[in-house]
Amino acid sequence: MRKKKLPSVHEYHLMGCLTLCAAGVVVSGCLVLFLAYATRADWTPARHPVGYIGDAERGKTLVAAYGCLSCHEIRDASPRGLVGPPLNDMASRSYIAGHFANHEIWMTRWIEHPQQIKPGTAMPDLNVGRRDALDIAAYLATLR
Ligand code: HEC
Repeated sequence: MRKKKLPSVHEYHLMGCLTLCAAGVVVSGCLVLFLAYATRADWTPARHPVGYIGDAERGKTLVAAYGCLSCHEIRDASPRGLVGPPLNDMASRSYIAGHFANHEIWMTRWIEHPQQIKPGTAMPDLNVGRRDALDIAAYLATLR
């Protein structure tokens, strides 16, 4: 009967290396999966309505921060502004300010520059930046 050949020193080291390497791949794979899970975005329609790239949850806080509520009523939020039309069911309307199709692009432009696209309207330009306008548009699109 032949004696079983023992691995050489080189083979022995190589096996150790490969084992460590495999363990490394498994550990970093788990880490990547964990990070992907922990930082996942909430893509439910309540937060990102279809056709809107903004974050409705953030938009909701911005509507209060920019003072939109001093002129508009939105559900139970206070103050309940009466200068402009209520925005309670904005997602169900066809037009914005009676003129512009109620889609993301027009809503975003309206929030950014109402005076530019409808000169003389009673709604003032409030210096809302693009990202904030997209988030507010997404929020308004959840109100039906
Ligand atoms: C100074 C009062 C005032 C403030 C502040 C204001 N709005 Fe307005 N808003 C109006 C008025 C008035 C109209 C009606 C404009 C028109 O039809 O020409 C209007 C119209 C709108 C409309 C269209 C509503 C419809 O029925 O078609 C939207 C949407 C809107 N505003 C969103 C906002 C948002 C979002 C903010 C905060 C970033 C804001 N508004 C801040 C006065 C205001």
